[in-house]
Amino acid sequence: MTNKEFINQLEAGNEALFQASEMQVEAFFNSKPTKEALVEHFSGRCANEYMNMVEVAQRLLEIAPTGDRKMIKLLARQVLDEAAHFDLVAKVLERITGKVFDVEAMLKNEQQGGGAKGARILEEMDKEDRLALHLYQFIAEGRAARVWQRMSEVCEDEVIASTYAKIAQDEGVHREFGRIGLEQFIANEADKTRALELADQIRYELYKVSCMNCVEVPAARQLCVDTYGPQFLN
Ligand SMILES: [Fe+2]
Ligand SMILES: [Fe+2]
Repeated sequence: MTNKEFINQLEAGNEALFQASEMQVEAFFNSKPTKEALVEHFSGRCANEYMNMVEVAQRLLEIAPTGDRKMIKLLARQVLDEAAHFDLVAKVLERITGKVFDVEAMLKNEQQGGGAKGARILEEMDKEDRLALHLYQFIAEGRAARVWQRMSEVCEDEVIASTYAKIAQDEGVHREFGRIGLEQFIANEADKTRALELADQIRYELYKVSCMNCVEVPAARQLCVDTYGPQFLN
């Protein structure tokens, strides 16, 4: 199997997680969440964009001395995009609450643990682990692209819907950065074995985040159990 074929197979393996996440976000918005529930939901997302910005900026600093000019440009673009997303989600929150977004309060909340978020997975990875970085981009950014797109279709607020349609497009671009990185960093069978194991872990972590940030959907859980195995029962 060529590297490209292997990466396509990894991508096909993400599909159940992506579908489950779409079902969960749709169920959350269909449940007609209260203002408080919306504030909590978007506060978590806002902190997640902020953390993605910081974590990718750190990877950029790690990678700059390697002189990998292509990846340097891609990560710099991602940092700018995540900064823009952070700003956009803060504006969504300001629209819901009618108050100025309080970044200090967000950071304080994060220091005390904060809510479940995908970027925590990236934060916990070894900063020099390129395979892990690009796999995270490939799976988490790919999931974000699908979830935000679905959300923009089911959310009744037009400003939020159009904001998230834009964010979803960027996340799809970041997923492709992950693909480019994986093509570089999956070189042999050992890399492939590790990529499959790590992909399973990342998918499981992201599924748990989705359950906490959205709502539980039995059919979504069943899809993941059938596809990935019984660890998704818990
Ligand atoms: Fe983002
Ligand atoms: Fe992103």
